[in-house]
Amino acid sequence: MKIFLMSIFLSGFLNTLGQQFNSIIPAPVEMKTLPGNFSIGKTTTIKFNTAQKELYAAAQFLKDHINSISGYNLEFNKPATTMLELKLGKINDIGNEGYLLSVTPSSINITANTKTGIVYGLQSLFQLLPAIRTNAALTVSCMNIKDYPRFKWRGMHLDVSRHFFGPEFVKKYIDLMSQYKFNTFHWHLTDDQGWRIEIKKYPLLTQIGAWRVDKNNITWSSRPQAQLGEQANYGGYYTQEQIKDIIKYAALRNITIVPEIEMPGHSAAAIASYPFLSCLQQAQLPMTGGNYTNISSNYCAGNDSAFTFLENVLTEVMNLFPSQYIHVGGDEVDKTSWKNCPKCQERMKKEGLKNEEELQSYFIKRIEKFISSKKRKMIGWDEILEGGLAPEATVMSWRGEAGGIEAAKMNHNVVMTPGTPLYFDHYQADPATEPRAIGGFNTLKRVYDYNPIPKELDEQQSKFILGAQANLWAEFITTSKQVEYMVLPRMLALAEVLWSPQAAKDWNNFNERLQYHLKAFDQKGLNYSKGNFKVNINPSIQDGKLLVSLSTEAYKGQVYYTSDGTTPDLSSKKYTTPISIDSSVTIKAITVVDGKIMSAIPAQQSFILHKAIGKNVSYTNPVSPYYRANGPSSLTDGVRGTEEIGKYWQGFSEKDMIATVDLGQSESIHSLTLGCLQHYNDWIFLPQFVKFETSENGVDFEEVKTIINPIDMNQKTALYDFKATFAQRNVRYIRVTAKNNPCPPGHSGAGKPSWIFTDELIVQ
Ligand code: ACM
Ligand code: ZN
Repeated sequence: MKIFLMSIFLSGFLNTLGQQFNSIIPAPVEMKTLPGNFSIGKTTTIKFNTAQKELYAAAQFLKDHINSISGYNLEFNKPATTMLELKLGKINDIGNEGYLLSVTPSSINITANTKTGIVYGLQSLFQLLPAIRTNAALTVSCMNIKDYPRFKWRGMHLDVSRHFFGPEFVKKYIDLMSQYKFNTFHWHLTDDQGWRIEIKKYPLLTQIGAWRVDKNNITWSSRPQAQLGEQANYGGYYTQEQIKDIIKYAALRNITIVPEIEMPGHSAAAIASYPFLSCLQQAQLPMTGGNYTNISSNYCAGNDSAFTFLENVLTEVMNLFPSQYIHVGGDEVDKTSWKNCPKCQERMKKEGLKNEEELQSYFIKRIEKFISSKKRKMIGWDEILEGGLAPEATVMSWRGEAGGIEAAKMNHNVVMTPGTPLYFDHYQADPATEPRAIGGFNTLKRVYDYNPIPKELDEQQSKFILGAQANLWAEFITTSKQVEYMVLPRMLALAEVLWSPQAAKDWNNFNERLQYHLKAFDQKGLNYSKGNFKVNINPSIQDGKLLVSLSTEAYKGQVYYTSDGTTPDLSSKKYTTPISIDSSVTIKAITVVDGKIMSAIPAQQSFILHKAIGKNVSYTNPVSPYYRANGPSSLTDGVRGTEEIGKYWQGFSEKDMIATVDLGQSESIHSLTLGCLQHYNDWIFLPQFVKFETSENGVDFEEVKTIINPIDMNQKTALYDFKATFAQRNVRYIRVTAKNNPCPPGHSGAGKPSWIFTDELIVQ
């Protein structure tokens, strides 16, 4: 009994009943705790078959870890009363990456079909032990685990071009990935602002391309271009020796590194090193930030020597990296330089290419042919679909899931990395309280709730979804501490998305297990986000009534709120059940943990009551599946949109928004208002005009008024209510038409149809 109590006290991971607190993330597929426990002691031996060389490396990994947390120096294959056994077997149902972990009073056994599975078993075991050096007993309760992953591609990306992160930090990142059973590190090695990989044949790539003029004190997009002759000393690169060392380090930890060499765009740093690669062939320096004026960032698609260069670079890259997949970028190519280049135009003529999209497709297909000839597979961002997808290409879907869905339907492999919710450079908590980030709002729970299999795919098509990945772009991430902050703890949520069965996902349980890991981050000095404390205000319509529920992601968080416009505090109402809204109000809410207000600024949301609340709406053109707001009732849910795009705005792509509302009975009304949003950079524009029509029978409509858009299309953001007032009239049906407004001259989509975003049709 005494020993038992000691172990509870010292290890801290057994609860008062002596049961193991399950701290494993990602949650194992099957886990059963049994009576009794096992303690790793000084004399515990590590048992394995020494003839299996791979096991030797895994055994050493185990030995090193136990040494780091206890100081014990466990020996291999010594006679002992307690042992840690690693064993390769032939086990059904667990595949190449799965493992069995069993803890009995005298041993811990990890069995798998491969060394990969053994290492994952070890990672689970490590999460049941103290995270840092301790004098405590290393006690684990008896249990059986059977575990294997849901997806093959479990990725994390790191942009080392916008800021360079040295080899030691890259290893730390790989360690973190491995602990949470990720298996793919997407290393974004080249971009406009820096080339980061030594290429022996082209030494200027790192002598020139790895260094930029330091303008870091100016906001990313406003930085002036570097002038030739200015001192360029901000940056760095990896030597081939360092890369080999990192690849080896990663391999022991089950991580494959997929290198990305960007083309045909995002290549200003390569062009700075070798100006012959671009259409203009003019001297330039690597970019200082995000201002592309007077910069060449594309390889010339008409120049064969650019292809020779890329093949030589890729040859060295493939000699270094054993990865089956080689990433070639392909995103965000501004094709203006190709339009103005005689060689590119000549190429298009010769190859019978109709436009520059087809020229990009030609470029990527030509590179794929080369990569395939070396028995590797090409992967690229979803723009590689434009102008025709290369025959064997794998698509990384980042502009939402649309590209991934399209590719899967064409029987191409897909990795899902949609900006929402998998861009970890986006905010994870209330932007008002966070360090500057690029934008967006991808909270821990939004990541946790993600399912990489879109509803649009059937079972057969879903098989082409290899998995998913979070991307970390570094425009606004200047230190390795900030990298830690942006990925922790969101990568733990993604780990569970990618590994654990979809049906077993449980947010509250995850949040509870997470607490062990947050404590471990504190113990190890890792910088992590303490959480999103902004209350989520979520309206819904039930039986024609507007209800609002309030929730917080904070562990054991409570919500306090007001509805009279005042700032909530600890004396405000505590939220328990959904609030019924029966007048136009503004709800303000805060998160409270252990009696402490966690949100610096309350969340708030306005509601407007009017005659169409909860009424049925039908649309002539469909709402975009990406911007559904609260679903079909969104236009009449009483919820006003904010400047945040994803929230409460319905989006209509390229077409007019035509909605018809049935009030259910004849009503006397005197004003109609349609709320709309403009977001210039996202191709969202206020409509050219909004026409309001009414009807008593739903067939014969009469125009009431048409309101012309008075707002300048060059305004970056605008919220505008198109409001018509008129003499009181009786109507049952209302039809509203918002006319699509093509993108204005000077916009990157000039002349093309835009988006219309609407939040509410207010009937008074
Ligand atoms: C990307 O975010 N441009 C792939
Ligand atoms: Zn050209």
